[in-house]
Amino acid sequence: MKKIITVVGARPQFIKAAVVSRILQNDPDMHEILVHTGQHYDANMSQIFFNELNLPTPHYHLGIGSHQHGKQTGDMLAAIEVLLLKEKPDCVLIYGDTNSTLAGALAAAKLHIPVAHVEAGLRTFDRKMPEEVNRIIADQLSTWLFTPTEQAIINLNQEGYADSRIIPVGDVMYDAALFYIEKAVQTSHILQQLNYQPKEYILATIHRAENTNDPNALKTLFQTLDQLARTKPVVMPLHPRTKQILNNHDPSLLTNSLIQIIEPVGFLDMIMLEKHAALIMTDSGGIQKEAFFYQVPCITLRNQPTEWIETVALGWNKIVSPSDADGVLTAAMNALNSRGIENQFPFGRGNAGNLIVDFLKKGMIDAHLDH
Ligand code: UD1
Ligand code: UDP
Repeated sequence: MKKIITVVGARPQFIKAAVVSRILQNDPDMHEILVHTGQHYDANMSQIFFNELNLPTPHYHLGIGSHQHGKQTGDMLAAIEVLLLKEKPDCVLIYGDTNSTLAGALAAAKLHIPVAHVEAGLRTFDRKMPEEVNRIIADQLSTWLFTPTEQAIINLNQEGYADSRIIPVGDVMYDAALFYIEKAVQTSHILQQLNYQPKEYILATIHRAENTNDPNALKTLFQTLDQLARTKPVVMPLHPRTKQILNNHDPSLLTNSLIQIIEPVGFLDMIMLEKHAALIMTDSGGIQKEAFFYQVPCITLRNQPTEWIETVALGWNKIVSPSDADGVLTAAMNALNSRGIENQFPFGRGNAGNLIVDFLKKGMIDAHLDH
């Protein structure tokens, strides 16, 4: 039996890991040990996903919590090293581009444990984004690079990665979007709770460092969305990072806004909100793509290019600078009446989880034979 340690810590990683974990749990040849770094810890940023998506209770919870990047990543690194030395896994499985991803990759690579990176090869080519730094290093340290898109393969090829390390599998988020939507339709009552009719509201989320670090820029963006809410209702499940910054700098934006600000919601409520939105406005990586999966127009509020360029190329996503209030409002009005190209599937076939587990089983046996 092969032992895999999966390292997760942030909201989108619970969703991605749920896809692969479900398959690992049903495989008698595989034993998965789940490690939660504690990067996200509020119940609605963490536990709700374990409950809804049937993720097993983490075998290890490191309880690291919120800190500056260096301390947060460093504390994770030290704690993960201890348990890797104890558990001696055959492989460490990491997801995406958070500080938890980086710490998992670094701890494993230093101990010569093979690293498998899910969502490898994505680039915005902007190293001011913490995610870009994390994903470049995670890719460098990984033995196996599971790519979600053709562009990810191109990016890795351009950086000189050997083809033997690149394993095209598609996007686990696409698997999740397909797998959980039925359950969401059956169990979520979020539209009724918020009293929205399908296609009569705009869904917005803001949390990325680039949009929240500067309180004035965040204020401008909030005011723009507030203006938009005069035309069509805007509902915003608010990330705790954004809430904290608004609370510290401009709490009136939270209380006096026309935007309907709600607490972060679980995945099933979120995908219902996405599927039935008239438009999605976000700086999230995952949500841009879910907009595409459910064929909802999306405005991505970033100054940087997106790592998910397929959504833009197919006309479902438009990148708009959040500081350009007129540009945001015009883009939103145009997007409300537009659709992209349909029946295109650049994110695989919804079987990325199976392909990852199949490859890992073979890859770990081959790696063992090589030693
Ligand atoms: C992290 C990832 C980002 C990802 C996002 C997903 C890094 C560098 N960034 O950003 O790529 O898009 O997760 O949501 O890893 N907080 C709480 N409760 C929580 C979690 C966070 O209050 O449960 C607040 C704290 O004030 C904290 C802040 O949010 O300081 C930021 O949290 P952190 O995990 O450092 O980064 P995210 O912005 O969540
Ligand atoms: N999400 C959620 N509830 C929310 C906001 C987001 O379940 O209140 C889900 C969303 O559907 C997507 C993932 O969390 O699957 C995206 O996470 P986030 O935007 O925090 O991070 P990013 O994808 O930008 O790293």
